[in-house]
Amino acid sequence: MDYDTVRLDDENNAVVIIDQTKLPGKIEIISLHTAQEIWNAIYLLQVRGAPAIGVAAAYGIYVLAKRMDTEDYDIFYREFVRQKEYLDSSRPTAVNLSWALNRMQRVVEAHSGETVAQIKEALHRESVAIQEEDIWVCRMIGEHGLTLVKPGDGILTHCNAGQLATSKYGTATAPIYLGEERGYHFHVFADETRPLLQGARLTAFELQSSGVDVTLICDNMSATVMKNGWVNAVFVGCDRVAANGDAANKIGTSVVAAVAKYYGVPVYICAPTSTIDLNTPTGAGITIEQRPAEEVTEMWYKERMAPEGVKVFNPAFDVTDHELIAGIVTEYGVARAPYTESLVAIFAEKEKR
Ligand code: MRU
Repeated sequence: MDYDTVRLDDENNAVVIIDQTKLPGKIEIISLHTAQEIWNAIYLLQVRGAPAIGVAAAYGIYVLAKRMDTEDYDIFYREFVRQKEYLDSSRPTAVNLSWALNRMQRVVEAHSGETVAQIKEALHRESVAIQEEDIWVCRMIGEHGLTLVKPGDGILTHCNAGQLATSKYGTATAPIYLGEERGYHFHVFADETRPLLQGARLTAFELQSSGVDVTLICDNMSATVMKNGWVNAVFVGCDRVAANGDAANKIGTSVVAAVAKYYGVPVYICAPTSTIDLNTPTGAGITIEQRPAEEVTEMWYKERMAPEGVKVFNPAFDVTDHELIAGIVTEYGVARAPYTESLVAIFAEKEKR
């Protein structure tokens, strides 16, 4: 795929994204300038996927900070925090959003003795670093993930944890892309991922355009492909991993994980450390985003397919119990149960580098 999911246009003071709500039919690149435009783009899933949301928010708050017209630190700081909190309210589940925005706020605080112009330069450096790290992190997840599979394997994935959800490689797709470069020739099954079809519209699109052997299946077909023996591993992304290894990801992931357990297929959660939230002890503490009923009652192309007024339950994510997870693939290696210990060890490893 030859398009940037998110990039900074510093000259025109804008965050530039590929509008994912138009894919795969139309490649539309849009520029976001205002706080409202950035908030809407995240909420409406024009840019989506935990790491990509973090990068977009980091560039977003930089772009907004750049436009703050004051030399007074206290005024600048107050306005920065106000805008940061506004962007942070766009989606609740992916911890990368607040992780990236908090990182940007710490830069402002660490440079409090400097001029506002110098603080803006430091914010620029930090936002670029967040995106560059994302590329390295995804590549490392790919390297570690690749050790868990062998050439010719069947891999099932749910939602889109691909390049469109990150700056490059994706998380769940990173082992697939690296494997493709090295001649592994995986057979990938992409769940369509109701209600918003990220698997059908995005994963199938980006894997197919990269020459990966991908087969699209409906969400209720994962048991069939596993029973047929076509799936050797499940790789999925996640939006937040709790300290005990419970992992929130796109709604339906826990169904796939339960089915995989039954058929003896290992489930690997691909998670940058920016997605691991050791302050949340278990999955029960993760806020699950609830989205509009119309996402369920209308098809993507806005044709009604359910009775008017029907009650709808539409959580955007679910939590996969850590007991269903064979490993959590991070940029520093694969964490295994007990996760309360192995995830702490992963962060200790990160500290050392
Ligand atoms: O609602 P979305 O499309 O933002 O959900 C995305 C997912 O669930 C991804 O799997 C997750 O954010 C990881 S992206 C590397």
